[in-house]
Order: sequence, then structure tokens, then C-alpha cells
Amino acid sequence: MRDFTRPLRVTDDVYWVGVNDRRKVRFENMWPIPEGISYNAYVIEAGAGFIAVDGVEEEYSDEYFSKLTEVVGDLSRIRLIVVNHLEPDHQGTLEELVRRTRAPVAISGIGAKMINDFYDVPRDRLRPVSDGEVLEVGNKRLRFIFMPWLHWPETMMTLDETDGVLFTCDAFGSYRALGEGLFDDEAPLDEYIREAKRYYVNIVGKYAKNTLDAVRKLRPLMSSVKVVAPAHGILYRSNPLLPLDLSEEWALPRLEREVTIVYISMYGHTVKALERLKEGLRSRGLNVKALDAAEVHTSYILSEANNSAGVIFMFPTYDASIPMPLFEVLYTFQVKLFGRGRPAGVVTSYGWGPIAKIAAEQVQRSGFKVVEPLVTLRTRPRPEELEKMEELASSMAKAVDEVMASQRTA
Ligand code: FEO
Repeated sequence: MRDFTRPLRVTDDVYWVGVNDRRKVRFENMWPIPEGISYNAYVIEAGAGFIAVDGVEEEYSDEYFSKLTEVVGDLSRIRLIVVNHLEPDHQGTLEELVRRTRAPVAISGIGAKMINDFYDVPRDRLRPVSDGEVLEVGNKRLRFIFMPWLHWPETMMTLDETDGVLFTCDAFGSYRALGEGLFDDEAPLDEYIREAKRYYVNIVGKYAKNTLDAVRKLRPLMSSVKVVAPAHGILYRSNPLLPLDLSEEWALPRLEREVTIVYISMYGHTVKALERLKEGLRSRGLNVKALDAAEVHTSYILSEANNSAGVIFMFPTYDASIPMPLFEVLYTFQVKLFGRGRPAGVVTSYGWGPIAKIAAEQVQRSGFKVVEPLVTLRTRPRPEELEKMEELASSMAKAVDEVMASQRTA
């Protein structure tokens, strides 16, 4: 078991000086993190001086500076500060670090334009770098690799070519605080991969094309990389290519012959129809996942539905509109560009305010292709209405088969 209250060695000259956050309930105040999250900051010993790579949330300043000082001694020995990404979970300590050192801040050109919107850093301390530029600092060579829109416009990665450590910031990160170990071979890898997938679809997933471009850009450099060091979660040293492969798979998911049903039921009527629909889908050989939007947070629904070839939304009307938990799911699918043209079924039930059309429009806005028939139930589903579940199961199975066939020929 590692002691995460102290600096940890990544390689001979590279140290982890990050923190664990187990206090926050939701990351970005939106995404539940029941197992916490880490903010990984690093410092590199570069001969006579040091290089600080990213920082942590401001709330954890004391812990960060205590670890940093333990490695560096006098902070004036820091010769360069690298800012890979401006979001405050990584730069809440930047202003103080700039104040307490005389080191220039290496940052992308777009980052240099944006930085003063977030932090008071004197302009004459900025050292904008260009894509692919190499800086020699002490006995280290750093290469800066721009990764625009992964997931902000200014993001970059830094490759310490001398030590073979790739600092990737948000990319390849994961929810789940560090506990058992710092590296992939010390920690429960499956747990981190599960939370890395949820982190990916929640935080980075909208930028699937940028993810694929990033992986393509990195692959030729990977022969010299011994450790992939993200800013959240475990570091990868036993297989540095694993986070690239996984991100590629999550960005361009291999669809499965599976339907995820996202539903909400106020008095159990929708659940009766749900049971019938599940039977109908399963009898056609489809794998079925059913997730109650009132119980399961959207962040998990995104992750669960990532590889499903089809999705079905089922809900009663609420004030002649879509009930809030279901709307949150649909809206998140829309914001994250998550429908990706996949087929979606829509089942609504109502007492006095039918909304099938509104519901279908929202599902379409969320990036899906709506499958006929749009099923509308009159509150308590009657036997003839339950029969409509068979019809929907049949058309969804056909739509899924079409998607699977086009995936095979793609
Ligand atoms: Fe972990 Fe985009 O900040």
C-alpha cells in the first residue's frame, strides 16, 4: 500500500505530488464520484533545478505545496512551470506557485490567450510554446504536443523525452481516488477501467473525433514512452498503450447486439409495459439492459449505453412534458452528441396530455433516429396496448440488425 500523503516516485527523476479528493460528491458539480478522484501533479528533477507539471484544486494547496517542497526544497529551484490545461482542478495552485517562484509558465498559445480569464499570472511570465516544440531545461528535454479540444481548446500534453514520461492531463484519466497503488500494476485495474470509461464518456466523450486524432498523433511517439501519467487516476507503466487503445474503443465504440432501455415509472404502469418489451427484445436474441433514470445517474447511463446498438426511452408524461430525470438523460445525450445516429424507440404513457411528438423530437435532437412505431399507452397498459411492445421489439431488432450489418461492412 502506498502512502499518498507523501510524494511518490514515478521514475528516478519524476515525482507524483498530487492529492486525493474524497470530499467532493460530484465532479464538476455534475458527475457523481462515490470513490473520489485524484488530481495528479508532477515535478521533474532536471539536474540543478526542477520542472513543475500541472497542479491541483485550490482547496488542496497546503497538501500540494507540502509535497512539492519535500521534493524540491526551496521553491525558487523550480525553473519551469508547465500548464497542460487551464481547468481549475489542475491549476488552483498556479497563482501561488507563480508568486513563490521566478519560473516561466510553458503553455499553448491559446492557453496564453485564455489564462488571465482564470488566473492572475503576469504576462511576462508566460512562455507560449508551439505544437511539437522541444525545450531543454537542465538535463531534460520536454516536447509539447497540442491536443486541441481534448477537452478544451488550449489543451496540450508534455512528453518528458529524457525520462519517457508522457503527461496527458485529462486525457486517459479516470474517476476513483488513488488508494491501492499509483500504477496500473499495483491497483485494481478493472475498477479503474470501469471508472475511466465513465469519466471518458462524461468529460471527453463529446470530442470523439479529437480523441481519435490525438491517439493517431501519439502512436508514433509511444515507443519512447515508459509511463503514461494522466492528471486523474492511475498511471500506466506495465502497458502504456492500454489507455490509448481504450480511448479509441470508447470514442469509436464497437456496437453490440444490445438495447439499453432508459425508463421512469411513477406508479408502475410503465414498468408493466417495460417487462413485456424486454421479453419481446430478448425473444429476438437481443441483450437488454434496463436502467431506471430515477435511480441511476445519467453519467452511468451514458457509460452503459455506449456500446448498445439501440436505445429505447419509456416514460409517462409529466405536466404534459417529459419527466425531469428522463429529460436530463436526453439533454445530456444531446450535449454530448451521444446518439450518433443509433436507432431509438419511444414509449410514452399519459392520462390527459399526450406528448409522443414532443418526445420523439427530443430523442431526435439527442442524436438518435426514431424507430416506428411511436408507442403511446393510455396510463394502465391494456392487453392490446401491450401488443404494441411486440411491434416495437420487432422493428428495433430489425434496426439493430441493420446497424450491426453496416458496422461489419464499414
Ligand atoms: Fe481535469 Fe478538464 O480538468
